[in-house]
Amino acid sequence: MINLKQLAAEKAVEQVESGMIVGLGTGSTAYWAIEKIGEKVKSKQLNIKAIATSKRSEEQARGLGIPIISFAEIDAIDITIDGADESDHNLHLIKGGGGALLREKIVASNSRKLVIVADESKLVQHLGKYALPVDVVTFGWEKTFQKLEALGCIPKLRLDDGKPYLTDNANYILDCAFGEIHDPATLHEKINAITGVVDNGLFINLASQLIIASAGGEIKTILK
Ligand code: A5P
Repeated sequence: MINLKQLAAEKAVEQVESGMIVGLGTGSTAYWAIEKIGEKVKSKQLNIKAIATSKRSEEQARGLGIPIISFAEIDAIDITIDGADESDHNLHLIKGGGGALLREKIVASNSRKLVIVADESKLVQHLGKYALPVDVVTFGWEKTFQKLEALGCIPKLRLDDGKPYLTDNANYILDCAFGEIHDPATLHEKINAITGVVDNGLFINLASQLIIASAGGEIKTILK
């Protein structure tokens, strides 16, 4: 059976060139991009440096011999390849299913090009079927929860083995079921105006390209 996530991810890696600073995404689709980049680095087809969006992806990259650098050493990231939980046709996204939305957004906001890779199930008419992950500080999270609820969603504290899930930056995630989101930009602003919210998983006007693999192996690229 064709692995659609792998197909989309490997297509995106074709845009990576030697000399580039590359942002490495997080999740089961971005995983394949990191594997492919690692393969090309090992065979000396690529000479790049990378910044990862999570400890998990950094560990994977290091294991493959991909050199990791810090923001202090660079001006900007040339290209970032990352997954998404949902994308609409304007390339507005919901991300954070893997809990890495904060680092992902920092990397995305500092990238010249953000290429999103996904299988066809991620492309939607309206965002919101997937509960929106919101990264919140642990202090007073119960009050942040109530303020999010007042925006019209059903929030849920993300758990891991019965305990609150902790992000790489030691925050909690509240998964907020809003239903169909018709004005993602306004919702993004309203959520981030709540004290206690660090950031939310809406990625507005950040993606430059969406590479979608469909059953049968067809690959479609949507440009912003
Ligand atoms: C990680 O926090 C997320 O933003 C992922 O990029 C997103 O959840 C997509 O993950 P998959 O590729 O595993 O579906």
